[in-house]
Amino acid sequence: TPALRVTEWSDVERWWPSLGPASEKYSRGVVGVATGSATYPGAAVLSVGGALAGPTGMVRYAGGAREEVLRQHPSVIATGRVADAGRVQAWVCGSGLGTGADAAAELRAVLAAPVPVVLDADALTLLVDGSLADQLRGRDAPTVVTPHDREFTRLCGEAPGADRVAAALRLAAWMNAVVLLKGDRTVIGTPDGRAYVNPTGTPALATGGTGDVLAGLLGSLLAGGVSPEKAAAAAAYLHGLAGREAARGGPVTAPDVATALRPVIARLG
Ligand code: APR
Ligand code: MG
Repeated sequence: TPALRVTEWSDVERWWPSLGPASEKYSRGVVGVATGSATYPGAAVLSVGGALAGPTGMVRYAGGAREEVLRQHPSVIATGRVADAGRVQAWVCGSGLGTGADAAAELRAVLAAPVPVVLDADALTLLVDGSLADQLRGRDAPTVVTPHDREFTRLCGEAPGADRVAAALRLAAWMNAVVLLKGDRTVIGTPDGRAYVNPTGTPALATGGTGDVLAGLLGSLLAGGVSPEKAAAAAAYLHGLAGREAARGGPVTAPDVATALRPVIARLG
C-alpha cells in the first residue's frame, strides 16, 4: 500500500510561504497564467483570480482575454502570448484555452519553460496529441495535472474506478507528473508513489469554473516555491474550505470561491 496521508490544516500552515520584512514582489514569485480566450474570457478571469489569492507577488497573464482580465484584475501584467510574457516561476495553462493549433502552440511554449507547470482542462484535452504528451514526460521541471473524472478517462483510456488513489498514482507514474484527481474526495498522487487525500471538499463546489480557480491558486503556490505535491494538497484543502465558506452566503458561483479564498487564507498562522 502506498504512503497515504489526509491533508490537515497544520500541514497547510507549515507549507504556506511566509511573508517577512525582506519580502519583495519578485522574491515572492511570479506566476504566469495562460488560460482563456476570446471565446472563454471567464476561465481566464477565474484562474487569475485564484492565482491572485495565492502567495505570489505578481501575476502575469498571457492569452486571448487580456481586456477582460485587466478589467477584473488591474494588478495583472497582461500579454497576448506565452513567448512575450517575460520571466515567471510557474505556469498555469489550460482552462478555456481552446483546442486548436494556436492553443497547442501556447501549450508547447509553456511545456518548454524550465519551471513548474499546472495543466488543466483544454491543456489536458490537447495532451491526447502524443507529441505534446512526450514533451510533458520529458520535462525536467515538475508538472501537475488536474483532471476531473472525464478528463482522467480521456488521458488514461480508462475511468478512475473505485480506487481513486491507485488511479491517480497510475497516471502520475505514466505521465511523470503529480496528478490531482478532482472530485468529492480529491486525491493527489506523485510519480514516486506518495498520495494525499483532501478532506475539505464540498458539493457546493460542483459548479462551472471552480476548477479554474483551483488551478490558479495551485500555480501561485508553485511559483512561491512550494513543492508540487504539497502545493497540490494545500490548494485542494484551501479550495474546499473556500467552497464551504462561500456556501454560507447561499448558492455558490466560481467567483465566490475566489473571493472566499481570502478570509480562509487570512486564518493561516
Ligand atoms: N464534492 C466535492 N467537490 C466537488 C464535487 C463534489 N460532489 N464536485 C465537484 N467538486 C470540486 C472538484 O473537486 C473541483 O475542485 O469542484 C471543482 C470542479 O472542477 P472542474 O471539474 O474542473 O469543473 P470546472 O472546470 O470548474 O467546471 C467547468 O464545465 O463547461 C464545462 O467542460 C467545462 O469541465 C468544465 C466545466
Ligand atoms: Mg475544469
